[in-house]
Amino acid sequence: MQKVSVNLPTNGYDVIIQSGLLASAGEYIHSKGGKVFVVSDSNVSVLYCDTLISSLTAQGYRCKLYVVKAGESSKNISSVMPMYSAMIEFGLTRSDLVVALGGGVVGDLTGFVASTYLRGVDFVQIPTSLLAQVDSSVGGKVAVDVVEGKNLVGSFYQPKVVLIDTLLLSTLPDKFYVDGMAEIIKYGCILDKKLFDRLAAIESREEFMEQAEDIIARCCAIKAGVVSRDERDNGERMLLNFGHTYGHALEKYYDFSTLTHGQAVAIGMSHITAISEAKGLTKQGTREKIDRVLTNFGLSTTDVADPSQVVSYISNDKKNLGKDLVVVILREIGKGVLYRTDKEFFEV
Ligand SMILES: NC(=O)c1ccc[n+]([C@@H]2O[C@H](COP(=O)([O-])OP(=O)(O)OC[C@H]3O[C@@H](n4cnc5c(N)ncnc54)[C@H](O)[C@@H]3O)[C@@H](O)[C@H]2O)c1
Ligand SMILES: [Zn+2]
Repeated sequence: MQKVSVNLPTNGYDVIIQSGLLASAGEYIHSKGGKVFVVSDSNVSVLYCDTLISSLTAQGYRCKLYVVKAGESSKNISSVMPMYSAMIEFGLTRSDLVVALGGGVVGDLTGFVASTYLRGVDFVQIPTSLLAQVDSSVGGKVAVDVVEGKNLVGSFYQPKVVLIDTLLLSTLPDKFYVDGMAEIIKYGCILDKKLFDRLAAIESREEFMEQAEDIIARCCAIKAGVVSRDERDNGERMLLNFGHTYGHALEKYYDFSTLTHGQAVAIGMSHITAISEAKGLTKQGTREKIDRVLTNFGLSTTDVADPSQVVSYISNDKKNLGKDLVVVILREIGKGVLYRTDKEFFEV
């Protein structure tokens, strides 16, 4: 078992990482009122809800399972009202608790609902996708999508505990495994050369799984460190955006249909590093190293889209106010920095 603490002034919490943890999840969950509202999606619930609910029932809790359709379309403001209704019907009070069992979609949606129901009820994250285990479940950003865009309505709302069972990854489809790997590689690039080198030596998903507890704990520790120094995303937390400025633009260019988020971020990391290297801001050979690791995990590093067209989608990013653009570049592997520039940076 590994434990990572997210140190925050008033609402810190632990991230517990252990293969097989789901079966004893109830021991780490505390609902004073005795009720637990469990949210999951249509793929994950059939695989893992029984184990979770047995473990909660063994602790004496009364549980209500609420299942949303798997996929991003459920992380929508229109999913929220029926969830509130189900919570009210179950008689969930402010002394009770909500659990998110699923990927980033379930985590973000459930966290948002928990942050607003009765002005906030406690919630616990049990992330089941690789992306959710290394990224979305830690840090307290919760949100839903609206017609005008993704993640435009949300809040900062930290969970009480994050329970990560690496065994659950065994059923994750390859596409989502590869997707999550992009974020893991990102952590190595921006803050941890040792992690990057470790990833560079991994040759298969099986080999990754043998080291999953360690690697996921390291990623959570990196994210926890950044979040505890900049909970509200005004400074250092922006480092986590490495590859995301161009990556988000690519996702929008393709109207969120062709590329997964991880694929777009992989191309974004490679693209910005090629540019920063050409400008003399990054140690020569860095892009080649990144490309090798990304390719090894099945992520492509280039795309047929015309970069000058992709760049036109950058300005709409909610983090880039005014003319300035803050991008993340690497000085070298493991040393990410924020770099204030403008959109012309990408026009080489
Ligand atoms: N809050 C944050 O800080 C943050 C950070 C990054 C991403 N996100 C959000 O996360 C979301 C993406 O998360 P995601 O990639 O986990 O998507 P997801 O929740 O849709 O999960 C991906 C797919 O994998 C399935 N799945 C999940 N775990 C499984 C398991 N163990 N076995 C079998 N199938 C499983 C799901 O049913 C789904 O089909 C996006 O909405 C994104 O905006 C949030
Ligand atoms: Zn991301």
